[in-house]
Amino acid sequence: MRQAGRFLPEYRAVREKHTLLDICAVPELTAEVTLQPIRRFGMDGAIIFADILLPLVPMGIDLTFIPDVGPSIANPIRTLEDVAALRPLEPRETLAPTLAALGLVREELPPETALIGFAGAPFTLASYLIEGGPTRNFIKTKSFMYHEPETFRALMEKLVDMTIAYMTAQADAGAQVLQLFDSWVGYLGREDYRRYIKPYSAAIFDGLSGLDCPTIHFGVGTGELLEDISEAGGDVIGLDWRVPLDEGWARIGEGKGVQGNLDPTVLYAPHDLIRERVQQILTRANGRPGHVFNLGHGVTPSTPVDSISVVLDTLRSWDGAAVG
Ligand code: CP3
Repeated sequence: MRQAGRFLPEYRAVREKHTLLDICAVPELTAEVTLQPIRRFGMDGAIIFADILLPLVPMGIDLTFIPDVGPSIANPIRTLEDVAALRPLEPRETLAPTLAALGLVREELPPETALIGFAGAPFTLASYLIEGGPTRNFIKTKSFMYHEPETFRALMEKLVDMTIAYMTAQADAGAQVLQLFDSWVGYLGREDYRRYIKPYSAAIFDGLSGLDCPTIHFGVGTGELLEDISEAGGDVIGLDWRVPLDEGWARIGEGKGVQGNLDPTVLYAPHDLIRERVQQILTRANGRPGHVFNLGHGVTPSTPVDSISVVLDTLRSWDGAAVG
């Protein structure tokens, strides 16, 4: 997840000397910050350090990260000409540091630890491209979608091509799982998701189907979209904390796995409450194969480091005993 490492002092020490984009440009630094949480906690999976917006830079987007604000795009997409000017992505040329880092991390990771590659989904990427930065209400993105459906479609098609090329290159470079982040798709109603977004997310999963690499389809606030998100694709579907795990899993369909669904803010609660919430999720999973325990969204920067250990200890000592 975004910010996976930011709560760690060893990550902050690297960030004092290097910007986010600098870390992503140097394979050794990328590998180091990817491995930091694994060395400390020994999770079952490591996610490569990058950002969903990184591949937009070689496509011609002028991206910076502004402290306490977030991503900022100086040349947002507003017209068909803007879309046409986006260059096709050649990941092996322009994202070589991230691909090299995947190889370095794979060499260092214990063989049983999965290495996860990722990309942003078309809607979430388009929202940054059109708004120029973070938004609370997606007014520019949705207005563009409603007023300029052809231009919006052209943008979606470019993002689909980019994402398939990038994720394929990541799998070739050593990623063993591919995660598609549609973090903001929960802001759409079902009708809009089906009409404007679903075909493009589905095209990405179609494009990855020959890779023999399991996929995760992630979203937040997606309780009402789960059936459609699952239909669009992904071997494993993300569940945030708003939907009880078993109810969400039923909507997704029994044939698929689920990932989630602890509220990241529960990590600020007393340790006993953290244990109780983790056990409730495991009880709802009920030992069915296909549950990847995770937070429902990213680790927030001020999360107490101890809380992560409490979650992991609870998971590792779980013996299936029912809790209230
Ligand atoms: O260790 C990790 O955090 C994994 C690497 C990772 C990052 N971004 C690095 C990052 C991953 C998987 C992402 C994905 C990402 N980026 C998503 C999808 C997942 C999610 O969290 O919803 C999204 C929406 C983004 C866009 C993004 N990047 C935002 C909104 C921000 C700034 C917001 C903030 O809270 O600062 C970023 C910056 C960013 N990307 C940080 C990290 C570690 C934090 C800033 C920093 O360290 O300078």
